[in-house]
Amino acid sequence: MTLSATTNHDRRLAVEIAGVRFNNPVIGASGTFGYGLEFAELIDLNRLGGFATKGLSARPLPGNEPPRIVETHGGMLNAIGLQNIGARAFVSEKLPLLRRYDTRIIANVFGYSDDEYLEAITILNDGEGIAAYELNISCPNVKEGGIVIGASADAAARLTEKAKRASTRPLIVKLSPNVTDVTVLARAIVDAGADCLSLINTMVGMSVDVNTRRPRLTYGTGGLSGPAIRPIAVRMVYDVAQTVDAPLIGVGGIASATDALEFIIAGATAIQIGTANYYDPLVTLKVIDGLSTYCQDHDIASLDSLVGSISTD
Ligand SMILES: Cc1cc2nc3c(=O)[nH]c(=O)nc-3n(C[C@H](O)[C@H](O)[C@H](O)COP(=O)(O)O)c2cc1C
Repeated sequence: MTLSATTNHDRRLAVEIAGVRFNNPVIGASGTFGYGLEFAELIDLNRLGGFATKGLSARPLPGNEPPRIVETHGGMLNAIGLQNIGARAFVSEKLPLLRRYDTRIIANVFGYSDDEYLEAITILNDGEGIAAYELNISCPNVKEGGIVIGASADAAARLTEKAKRASTRPLIVKLSPNVTDVTVLARAIVDAGADCLSLINTMVGMSVDVNTRRPRLTYGTGGLSGPAIRPIAVRMVYDVAQTVDAPLIGVGGIASATDALEFIIAGATAIQIGTANYYDPLVTLKVIDGLSTYCQDHDIASLDSLVGSISTD
């Protein structure tokens, strides 16, 4: 697969986030897009605005015991358990292959303590070709009794500040929806130095097998994703856009250009697509084409002009 020279991008779709230019606002969501290379056989990666890697930790992790995915109405529950090859292997094995593509690589990062996050970031800082980091803060901090970092404004702000200092790249912090008021978290994280917020991560859910009377996931609970969570994600993007000035990346249940436009009009500069890739591996390209058609039909010179253009009068 060759580079951008052969890829015709619709200039109306280009967006910039924290100084990083994306050819279009469509980004593969973390955990559903592997390390990007898995999709290279299915789609032309050069056409994507970018993609976020599976969450990377300082050391490789095996993940949870199966079953770790179950289908639900309008979505799915997953309890993969953040299985990954580790930041070092990503830098040495995946990045050299990914650098051939003209797409923005976002390294999604997590840890089970602040130090583990910083360790992963330090390893990734040596990796050439990463455009930005995305912190997954929907993780328990095992050193602090398992509190989920993304559920505490103090813990999230503290981690953001440290990560920003350790990072050589723009910092996106990915908000957890499993909070009482997402705007409180958003404000604390932006005040602590985040360059951009992405939202939302999965919502904690549970499904029960009525014959065995056991949870259908071995882990018990799982993260709900897919179309079922979209209205919640749109509402959170809207609320956060009213609260902070930082650019937002909307994610949650997007499966069409219309879905993506909902997020953009509500206040997102770019969007990510996760679960829909599983049932339609071409969905990212279809959304890009659909956004071009919308610009054409509505005489829009730059999609950027739509960001936050919602009218609630
Ligand atoms: C199987 C699976 C694995 C995921 N792994 C990660 C991850 O490693 N890091 C992360 O920040 N989000 C992860 N997510 C969350 C997605 O990136 C996304 O925020 C969420 O699924 C909502 O978007 P969607 O409805 O389009 O899937 C994962 C989601 C799924 C379904």
